[in-house]
Amino acid sequence: MMLALRDVSSGYGPVTVLRHVSFALAEGEILGIVGHNGMGKTTLLRTLMGLLKTASGTIELGGQSIETEPAHERSRRGIGYVPQGEQGFPTLTVAENLQLAVAMNPPGRPLTMDDVLALFPRLRPLLDRRSGALSGGERQLLAIARAVMRAPRLLLLDEMTEGVQPSIVEEIAERLVALHAELSMSLLIVDQDLAFVAALASRALVMQKGMLVKEVSSTELIQSNVLGGFDAL
Ligand SMILES: Nc1ncnc2c1ncn2[C@@H]1O[C@H](COP(=O)(O)OP(=O)(O)O)[C@@H](O)[C@H]1O
Ligand SMILES: [Mg+2]
Repeated sequence: MMLALRDVSSGYGPVTVLRHVSFALAEGEILGIVGHNGMGKTTLLRTLMGLLKTASGTIELGGQSIETEPAHERSRRGIGYVPQGEQGFPTLTVAENLQLAVAMNPPGRPLTMDDVLALFPRLRPLLDRRSGALSGGERQLLAIARAVMRAPRLLLLDEMTEGVQPSIVEEIAERLVALHAELSMSLLIVDQDLAFVAALASRALVMQKGMLVKEVSSTELIQSNVLGGFDAL
């Protein structure tokens, strides 16, 4: 297994948000996590990345326990994270943003700038542009490219389609398929756009109030109202 969680709980100070979360993601799998706002999806990714402490339970990456490792160590071991609303450094250029992604926390085997630009050709003509001047969709592609520079084995993606035009949502989906196919990257995709998740993942887990309550196929994601039975907060 690429990733295996058993009975993981976490939260903020005295407030428990994630409750007894267990699931596994196979090597090379693309898995979706869906759920209404406030259900704990971002909290799950922050806990996986080590930005929030695991209160109880275990997290294994490639069979090794990582739940007590700090974020930089999890990153070194191959977890990449594109946070919700990631902005990068808006006053720096696209090229500088890409270089800094590696400089700040060098992995064992970073990709070259050319490798990453081959995967994200839309960024090439934008290299000298300040990232703060990019469109929402371009910024999202840059955020993914920054994570990919560090050659992760498993990439955690939080709300990649939020505030992005449909034409770029399609391009983001295509680029993620390419990462998966060409770099054998496993993907954990959190998104409110169920069609986007269904286009990429063969199955998804539904999160409600900090718990994973159901597994659905990609067909069920688009054909039935999978969140319908679950109240929004
Ligand atoms: N920094 C924080 N401090 C305290 N509570 C938080 C914090 N961030 C999120 N929460 C709470 O945790 C719950 C889950 O939030 P979140 O993981 O962001 O959900 P989602 O990503 O599914 O929208 C919500 O009730 C939210 O208010
Ligand atoms: Mg969120």
